[in-house]
Amino acid sequence: MHKILHIIGARPHFMKLAPIYHRAQEKERWQQVICHTGQHYDFNLSEAFLGEFDLPQPDYNFGIGSGPHLLQIGRMLLKFNNVLSEEKPDIVFVYGDTNSTAAGAIAAAKCNIPLAHIEAGLREHDKSIPEEVNKLLTDAVSDLLFCPTQTAVDNLRNERNEGRVHLVGDVVADLILNTRHRPETSIVDALGLTAGRYYFATCHRAANTDNPANLKAILSALAGLDAEVIFPVHPRTAEAVRAHGLTDLLKSKNVRLIDPVGFWQTQECIRNARAVITDSGGVIKEAYLHQVPCVIIDRQTEWIESVQEGWAQIAGPHCDTIIQMTRKPAQGHVYSAFLGDGNAAERILNTTFTFLAEESHADEMEL
Ligand code: UD1
Repeated sequence: MHKILHIIGARPHFMKLAPIYHRAQEKERWQQVICHTGQHYDFNLSEAFLGEFDLPQPDYNFGIGSGPHLLQIGRMLLKFNNVLSEEKPDIVFVYGDTNSTAAGAIAAAKCNIPLAHIEAGLREHDKSIPEEVNKLLTDAVSDLLFCPTQTAVDNLRNERNEGRVHLVGDVVADLILNTRHRPETSIVDALGLTAGRYYFATCHRAANTDNPANLKAILSALAGLDAEVIFPVHPRTAEAVRAHGLTDLLKSKNVRLIDPVGFWQTQECIRNARAVITDSGGVIKEAYLHQVPCVIIDRQTEWIESVQEGWAQIAGPHCDTIIQMTRKPAQGHVYSAFLGDGNAAERILNTTFTFLAEESHADEMEL
């Protein structure tokens, strides 16, 4: 048996953990421990996903919460010190690009524990973005780099990354392409929406929420669109709207504010939307998987293939451009399925098993 210690902590981790966790449970060769940093603590950003994906309660929850990034990461490192020496995992799995990801990667590397990064190699080529720094730090110390796309593989090769780079496909594509289960209640019906007659928007990246001019431009664009906009508001965004005195912009008749929703409800909202407006990497990817046009309210994206294939357009945080691009949503001219075939979790576990077998063989040779 090999012991995997999964590190999660924020909303985008649960849907990446789920396909791997369940696939590993089917085989007797894996023992799994889940460690939640508690970076996200609101029920609908964290706990709700455990039920939605049939995941067990984490074995550890650090309850770190919000705070300045260095404090957040520093607190996590102190806690990892105990957990890693107690659990002695054969390998640590980290997911995506959050502060929890980077903290977990640093901790595993400093303790000389093999490290696998799921969603390795993605780049936005701008180190002022907190997630970009997390991506660079994590990839630099990972032994196994599981890439969702060929672009991610190319990025790591260009950087001469010394780890083992594997193109496995995207784990969220595993979920979307393979899961038959869908929630029994339809959010589209519950909200009284008609397919193709509304837009779906999300906004929470620091570049937009921390910059009053950007946030104002984005909210003004949503208010100025030609159909209703369904807008689940991330707590960071709600706080920023209040702090920047922009509450009035959210009072537009056109914009329907809702609390953050679950994963399958989000998929239903995306699938039926006329277009999606977002700065979330996860939502850009999901819009592509549902072949729904996407307007990116950020200056760049790590999912560049969706732009190249015509499914997404980069508007940046500019009111007129957002309105113009959303009113004429781009229909992709090609669909290459660049996110893979829905078998990423299987490849990740098989590759990890081979890697650990080689490692233990090398250890025996040394003895
Ligand atoms: C984090 C990730 C981001 C990911 C996002 C998904 C980093 C640097 N960023 O951003 O990549 O896309 O999660 O949601 O790790 N807050 C709450 N309740 C919570 C969590 C956060 O109210 O449960 C509020 C707090 O006001 C907090 C702010 O959100 O100050 C920021 O939270 P934080 O976890 O630092 O980053 P996110 O913006 O959520």
